[in-house]
Amino acid sequence: MTRDATDPGATDPAGPDQLVTLLDGLCTTRSIRRFTDDPIPDDALATMFFAATRAPTGSNRQPFRFVVLREGPAARAAKALLGESFRALWADKRAADGYDVGSGADDDSPKARTARTMQRFVDRFEQTPVVALACLVPWRGLDPTVGASVYPACQNLLLAARGLGYGGVLTLWHAVVEDDLKRVLAIPDEVVLAATVALGRPEGRHGPVRRRPVQELVFDDRWERPAPWAVEPDGTRHTGRPPR
Ligand SMILES: Cc1cc2nc3c(=O)[nH]c(=O)nc-3n(C[C@H](O)[C@H](O)[C@H](O)COP(=O)(O)O)c2cc1C
Repeated sequence: MTRDATDPGATDPAGPDQLVTLLDGLCTTRSIRRFTDDPIPDDALATMFFAATRAPTGSNRQPFRFVVLREGPAARAAKALLGESFRALWADKRAADGYDVGSGADDDSPKARTARTMQRFVDRFEQTPVVALACLVPWRGLDPTVGASVYPACQNLLLAARGLGYGGVLTLWHAVVEDDLKRVLAIPDEVVLAATVALGRPEGRHGPVRRRPVQELVFDDRWERPAPWAVEPDGTRHTGRPPR
């Protein structure tokens, strides 16, 4: 991991020649939405999807499948559908969450920077080097525990990407075009699209992971009892409480 001495916990995406330890990778994997146009070579994709498919699932049933979209005709059609959907859903979120009001009116505010990154991400969605549709093949009725057998594989994929100097983001903005995607990609009706993971070579610098303090999230012995042993590394950066 590369650390910026002036900003503890900040990370630059590691180059392929830089080893990222498992724990560093876990603590520094951001959502990456700004990509260069570099393709991801086959050998890197092979490593990433091998790691993804080693993830645990309930009873080792492995009910997930990844449909990987690159440059083929079906992939282009699917990316176009996704791009439209992403742009529409981001526009809704931008308005609903007030990205352009309050501090968002200041171009230098974190809110305005996030909005610019999101807008660029959706505007260029079709150029995203690799898009992986994480699919669930349900073997019984759909409930949250069924979905739990897809997301560890998605996180393995993102961590493996980080380990190789790539990055990505898990999104759920495919839902409104799910039926069209299934038609274009010959995905059976009973299969559920659980996530869309965009992947590529990160562009620019990405700040540190920020979460709530561990003490707010981890309790000892009973609900909301502080865990005295849950001590954070020096320099840990925090975020405020998320919106309800
Ligand atoms: C279940 C889940 C759903 C998400 N859905 C979206 C999404 O639809 N669009 C998007 O841009 N990011 C999405 N994300 C990424 C989160 O917004 C991101 O992880 C979070 O804001 C923290 O940012 P960081 O990963 O850069 O620290 C999702 C992440 C998860 C785990």
